[in-house]
Amino acid sequence: MTIKSFKRIKQYKDKVFLVRCDFNVPIEKGQIKEDYKLKQSLATINFLISQGAKVVLISHLGRPQKREVAFSLKPVAERLSHLLGSKVFFSQDIVGLKAKKAIKKLSAGEVLLLDNIRFLEGEEKNSRVLAKQLASLADIYINEAFAVSHRLASSVSAIKNYLPAYAGLLLEKEVENLAKAFKPKKPLVVIVGGAKVKSKIKLLEKLLKSADSICLGGALANTFLAACGINIGKSLIDEEGLVWAKNFISKKTVEKKIVLPLDALVLSQGKKIVKKVDKLKKTEAILDIGPETMSVFCKQIKLAKTVIWNGPLGKFEDKRFQQGTLSVARQVAISSTKNTFSVVGGGETVEALAELKASKNISWISTGGGAMLSFLAGEKMPGLEKIVKL
Ligand code: 3PG
Repeated sequence: MTIKSFKRIKQYKDKVFLVRCDFNVPIEKGQIKEDYKLKQSLATINFLISQGAKVVLISHLGRPQKREVAFSLKPVAERLSHLLGSKVFFSQDIVGLKAKKAIKKLSAGEVLLLDNIRFLEGEEKNSRVLAKQLASLADIYINEAFAVSHRLASSVSAIKNYLPAYAGLLLEKEVENLAKAFKPKKPLVVIVGGAKVKSKIKLLEKLLKSADSICLGGALANTFLAACGINIGKSLIDEEGLVWAKNFISKKTVEKKIVLPLDALVLSQGKKIVKKVDKLKKTEAILDIGPETMSVFCKQIKLAKTVIWNGPLGKFEDKRFQQGTLSVARQVAISSTKNTFSVVGGGETVEALAELKASKNISWISTGGGAMLSFLAGEKMPGLEKIVKL
């Protein structure tokens, strides 16, 4: 594997570096709720500052339809100033004369953040026109946004046609750590949860070959249980993924590797009760994995030398149904301290580890949810083209 690291650049001083970051952090009423992604980008930014570069940061935030204050990156500029210990300037103008003026005002070692790139229509169309406009702002481009590298977007893909392009430190670490899953130390245990089957199909198909077991939870597992003909009441399933799940489960190799929930937490007249997954009434729904399943999953994890985990195992947004996800998080964290290599990604999965204060034990926590899935599934990653060769 070769990664075109920006550290190989000879001259930084006074050069303008356009650094595509992923600052897509949760913001409520102007307050940043969680800044893990910002902290992960600091090493690259600090290095550029120390070398006297002029640093221009770009990022998206959410999925805005038009320019809206709620999607502005201004709060990020403030938090970054605090984290870096030096002012991060902010420009509402992303391209054009005013943006150029703001960049011209920068002295060596200063940082400017441009507002949400998704305010510009061309971004998600991978517009060459926008890419050229962005390129005209800088001398060198760095992709530090692994989490958005599966998207075909101007600031991630087309831009690399118009500027010398390099990988940032975070992107480099993401690729190096996630790539270890391609040659895993065995046994490899994969844990996949969440709601959407579609987003996990390629990953499951790819990892089926190398995994020793694949533990499924969440609505994803419900869909598999339904595909096996089990009556799971009114549990949430992914109708779209049902046909694929039926085909997948019928493969000989799959049978031995897929570990489905045996019991579940359901709500019965407002009370949480444990039931076998094939004993649900028509009116009941699976909301979390039950204790027997937790113990089976944890046993698998204990045996593993490599663990890959993406997606919660129950209705994690409801505190009453977090136990399954938390118990697995605890075991992954414990195993990681005992020589098991673990990679974890996805919003709620990462949240579970943070809640247990166990994040530090995990070998690699990816900043990418969808990007981690795409990378591990071996899909084409437009953001990695020209800078990473696997
Ligand atoms: C993420 O949070 O996973 C990334 O920022 C990508 O965001 P997107 O799914 O809106 O492209």
